[in-house]
Amino acid sequence: MSTTTSPAPAGTAAPPAAPPSVAVVGVNGHGRSHLERALAADAAGRLRLAAVADPRLEDLPDLPAGTRRHHDLGDLLRDGAPDVVVLSTPIHTHAALATAAVRAGADVLLEKPPTATAAEFTELNATVEAAGRLCQVGFQSLGSTAVQHVRQRVADGRVGEVTGYSAAGCWVRTRAYYQRARWAGHRHLDGRVVADGALTNPLAHAVASALAVAGAQRAEDVTGVETDLFHVHDIEADDTSTARVHLAGGHELLVAVTLCAAERGEPFVAVEGTSGRITLYYTLDTVVEEVPGRPPLVTRHGRTDLLTDLLAARAHGTPLLSPLADSGGFTRVLEAVVTGPAPRPVAEGFFERLELPGGDEGRRLTGVEEAVATALRERSTFSELGLPWTR
Ligand SMILES: NC(=O)c1ccc[n+]([C@@H]2O[C@H](COP(=O)([O-])OP(=O)(O)OC[C@H]3O[C@@H](n4cnc5c(N)ncnc54)[C@H](O)[C@@H]3O)[C@@H](O)[C@H]2O)c1
Repeated sequence: MSTTTSPAPAGTAAPPAAPPSVAVVGVNGHGRSHLERALAADAAGRLRLAAVADPRLEDLPDLPAGTRRHHDLGDLLRDGAPDVVVLSTPIHTHAALATAAVRAGADVLLEKPPTATAAEFTELNATVEAAGRLCQVGFQSLGSTAVQHVRQRVADGRVGEVTGYSAAGCWVRTRAYYQRARWAGHRHLDGRVVADGALTNPLAHAVASALAVAGAQRAEDVTGVETDLFHVHDIEADDTSTARVHLAGGHELLVAVTLCAAERGEPFVAVEGTSGRITLYYTLDTVVEEVPGRPPLVTRHGRTDLLTDLLAARAHGTPLLSPLADSGGFTRVLEAVVTGPAPRPVAEGFFERLELPGGDEGRRLTGVEEAVATALRERSTFSELGLPWTR
């Protein structure tokens, strides 16, 4: 809600500015972490939690007196737009909700991926620019100074000439993950693009962080994308994938990911050069620089929370760490994933089923960790490697 204050009479101190009002939309799932951060910031006086919205408002933590509760964003905005809306709702709702928030005069922290299609992205970007609002995309690794550090080391020639970029992630998602919400694991739902695959949702950070390290975040920085998508789980979207992304500068980014690993491995982004390699462990803000003949150099970096950064940008006009326009390159990859050939099922016999507590089931794709490592080393897709489960 915008507030106006009269100038203080001469000789008296100006009243402290009211903290910005913030609404959190989508308060279960990942949105709960946004709500908890907003509650902590409210308690510290850095913002005022004006409202929450979600069709499911049961089991919420205690909210400050005066925090409004709504079942949808439309109602929330009709009762008064806050300064900032945090959106952590299903992917296919992002474009419409962000558009409504921006048109009502709010700045937005929008969860990743920002939109489900390239057309929605272009339209939302135009809406944000026309309204003169701010839209920060929730790629939290882009809040880390590690990204800038890697770029600087590469620019300083620490690895010689760059020969390529890569990104990898071996994570574990079980049946319960795909059963938690109707949209989970879908490419499409009810005639809408949903784009909930490994490359576009859980390990989207690997793609976005790699593009940031490569300085290729804008749509025009990505000139082509080849995808090679598989699913081990009974889902429509991909859970085990490679993609080769062609960058305007002539380099390539090879991405290899799976959600069917034996155990969670630390995902990373790497820059390969003629005389070394730099690896960014983007969830840890840790960088490892390896140059032959020298011990690895490990550095750890700080991270700015993206809502804090958005509030600072509002107050001081500083540039956002993850502005919507910088998701253009990522969105080209997303568009290739959702419009390209459908993910192919991995046949029975190539994966192991694991019975888990509560009737849950895990699926381990045998040897997938080695397949990811080989794909990166050979700069090849899983199919190009001729792995038996791709045939
Ligand atoms: N940045 C990260 O690390 C990270 C991690 C997980 C998820 N996410 C992103 O967060 C978003 C939400 O994912 P999730 O896994 O929490 O989804 P979810 O389906 O588990 O939860 C979504 C929440 O939004 C609510 N909701 C649904 N439609 C709504 C609407 N129209 N208006 C208001 N609320 C609505 C649901 O009731 C639910 O509470 C996605 O964009 C996802 O990619 C980001």
